[in-house]
Amino acid sequence: MPAGVVDAAAKGVRLDRPATILLRRASGAKQLAAASSHLLFRATILATLALVVLFAVHYPSLLSRSFSLSSSSPSSSSPHRRSSHRSLLDSGATTYRGAAWEREVRRSATPRRNGGLSVLVTGAAGFVGAHCSVALHARGDGVVGLDNFNAYYDVSLKRARSRLLLSSRGVVVLDADINDGALLERLFAAVPFTHVLHLAAQAGVRYAMKAPQAYVASNVAGLVGVFEAAARHADPQPAIVWASSSSVYGLNGETPFSEDHRTDRPASLYAATKKAGEAIAHAYNHIYGLSITGLRFFTVYGPWGRPDMAYFSFARAIVSGEPITLFADARRDFTYIDDVARGCLGALDTAGKSTGSKSGKKSGPAPLRVYNLGNTSPVAVTRMVAILEKLLGKKAHKRVVTMPSNGDVPFTHANVSHAARDFGYRPTTSLDVGLRHFVEWFVKYYKLDDIKSGSSNVLLAAGKTTKRKKSMAMSAAS
Ligand SMILES: NC(=O)c1ccc[n+]([C@@H]2O[C@H](COP(=O)([O-])OP(=O)(O)OC[C@H]3O[C@@H](n4cnc5c(N)ncnc54)[C@H](O)[C@@H]3O)[C@@H](O)[C@H]2O)c1
Ligand SMILES: *[C@@H]1O[C@H](CO)[C@@H](O)[C@H](O)[C@H]1NC(C)=O
Repeated sequence: MPAGVVDAAAKGVRLDRPATILLRRASGAKQLAAASSHLLFRATILATLALVVLFAVHYPSLLSRSFSLSSSSPSSSSPHRRSSHRSLLDSGATTYRGAAWEREVRRSATPRRNGGLSVLVTGAAGFVGAHCSVALHARGDGVVGLDNFNAYYDVSLKRARSRLLLSSRGVVVLDADINDGALLERLFAAVPFTHVLHLAAQAGVRYAMKAPQAYVASNVAGLVGVFEAAARHADPQPAIVWASSSSVYGLNGETPFSEDHRTDRPASLYAATKKAGEAIAHAYNHIYGLSITGLRFFTVYGPWGRPDMAYFSFARAIVSGEPITLFADARRDFTYIDDVARGCLGALDTAGKSTGSKSGKKSGPAPLRVYNLGNTSPVAVTRMVAILEKLLGKKAHKRVVTMPSNGDVPFTHANVSHAARDFGYRPTTSLDVGLRHFVEWFVKYYKLDDIKSGSSNVLLAAGKTTKRKKSMAMSAAS
């Protein structure tokens, strides 16, 4: 999107130049008139008029474009927009929905290989969304991202992911909300997406006790918004792959978790909204013939990860010498981001076409699928902390408590045999290796040259902004 702004700005400059030339010619004409004959004066006026007409015929689009660019921002309809976070670089193209916006979006959506996908990635400035967008683009698929850049965690990290997508790959991330139906309609009208990878959501288990309505807005209403736009306004309808969660297994005792285990006992509102999403997916598949695949992620971690998750907040606390609180006996099926991204692409590649509500009977029902994407080897949270201590070269101040019953489940373990069978999903990254990649990124991103002295101002500053979220620092299963 900065490219769009730069593009339009460059044209604005070009627009100025002929205008200046015109002015010079006009004043030149006056001097000429005073000095020379009546006839010559008339000829000059005529020539000037001709120039003006030529200019107007040649550049009408530039005139109208620069107008709508400057008058675009107040028309934004995102409910969560916070202009204080928006820099000049990030604004503009996203709220501007004219011809330049469409061209930029279409360019980003166009695959660079034969038979390539054209994918709308929601939540593209998020952790999983950014990685999947890179992976799709790297193999030649077209990608348009969409994200509302909400302040649930450090917005500058979301902006950094989004900038990286644009600068290294030319992938546009629109600053928009999935509840903005008019925008989605516009988007689907402008681009024939073959697939939607829907990852935008309010994540986090603990935060649901503080902001329950945020979960309903993004995970229920927003999900319906995406399904509606894909079902009604896209022709042909795209296939949809979306993120559910391992948390739907809730208070399920049976392990490892299989897709056919019961999921009707959620332990958090977050889990309940994901479970609701799976029921909503069933209805949209049934009524509108949408091809829908739900992916139940298991504690995804890695570089460019989420600061609200335990491995990330623990790393930060270890470096800055703050105490951490961890739950005795908690074990997690930690899954490395590259494995999850491969799983997402596998699900997209095998999704099968949407059939529409009418042709559904002829060509058989559209596919409705759900898969676990985990690592299949649970690790104790205490072990995760030990690995971090070793990698960071510094001991944690640990406070071990028993787990309260307010959201997190004590144990997760994925059975991924269905994903393995249907798209060759095979997680290959151990927690030791994955956390090493995470810490390498973490140290570089926050410029932590000397961890042992805990002297990084950047990190300490980042830690302060999230202090109020201490109570949710242990949320590991979102
Ligand atoms: N990371 C995990 O361990 C994990 C586990 C299970 C499920 N999931 C699910 O996977 C998906 C991606 O998770 P993540 O870890 O990348 O989280 P994330 O918070 O980093 O990414 C989600 C992105 O969606 C955006 N977003 C939220 N509400 C939006 C809205 N209404 N409109 C537009 N954008 C909106 C956010 O700004 C954010 O950038 C989510 O659906 C999450 O619930 C993640
Ligand atoms: C994993 O799931 C498959 C398919 O549902 C099942 O056949 C297999 O027994 C399960 N494995 C375990 C260890 O439960």
